[in-house]
Amino acid sequence: VGTTQAANVSSLRSASSDALGPRLQRELRAMLDAAYAGDFSSDDWRHALGGTHVWIENDGRVVAHAAVVRRRLECTGRRLSVGYVEAVATAVPYRRQGLATRVMQHVGALIAEQFDLGLLSTGESGFYARLGWEPWTGPSFVDAPGGRVATPDDDGGLMMLRTPRTPALDPGGAIVADWRSGDVW
Ligand SMILES: CC(C)(COP(=O)(O)OP(=O)(O)OC[C@H]1O[C@@H](n2cnc3c(N)ncnc32)[C@H](O)[C@@H]1OP(=O)(O)O)[C@@H](O)C(=O)NCCC(=O)NCCS
Repeated sequence: VGTTQAANVSSLRSASSDALGPRLQRELRAMLDAAYAGDFSSDDWRHALGGTHVWIENDGRVVAHAAVVRRRLECTGRRLSVGYVEAVATAVPYRRQGLATRVMQHVGALIAEQFDLGLLSTGESGFYARLGWEPWTGPSFVDAPGGRVATPDDDGGLMMLRTPRTPALDPGGAIVADWRSGDVW
């Protein structure tokens, strides 16, 4: 529903959460609320903060976005510094023009520079597979305050991006998240 708008895609930007400023943070939150059609919680927003944002503007408005936050995850028994991707979205009128692809290509380069591994949780695996992300097929867990517990609802929805620093990894092994409230993956 609604018209499709062609974006002036020249303006890909990136900044830390602190550098966004209140106006841009408010605008970004509103864009994510609309793009996820009410399925973007306050926890999801909090999870998207504290790292680096990559976004595309059109006429001064945010039209596509992804965030990368640092997490310590245990992957097949190894503790890795992971660039975890959150809040990937394109505003509805700007979809299917390659904007999220462009954002995620930049995110992939950033992860390759700064982290041992990239990771994300998604129901859109085909979109990320084209960009080099591989499914994590093994069982997932979280180190909850009361101890390690399985997170079977997330099994099959996790994907990883190898970087030059990624050690030999079996994506069929166990993967363990550090604790956070809200969705742990
Ligand atoms: C998933 C999402 C981020 C994709 O954003 P997008 O900017 O439309 O993505 P792109 O345009 O880069 O690619 C999307 C598709 O459009 C296709 N496409 C890209 N440019 C195109 C063009 N010029 N013409 C037609 N199709 C095009 C891509 O091939 C891709 O195809 P696919 O559906 O087979 O993967 C967007 O649909 C969204 O915000 N969804 C709601 C929130 C969400 O689910 N986020 C991801 C959670 S992990």
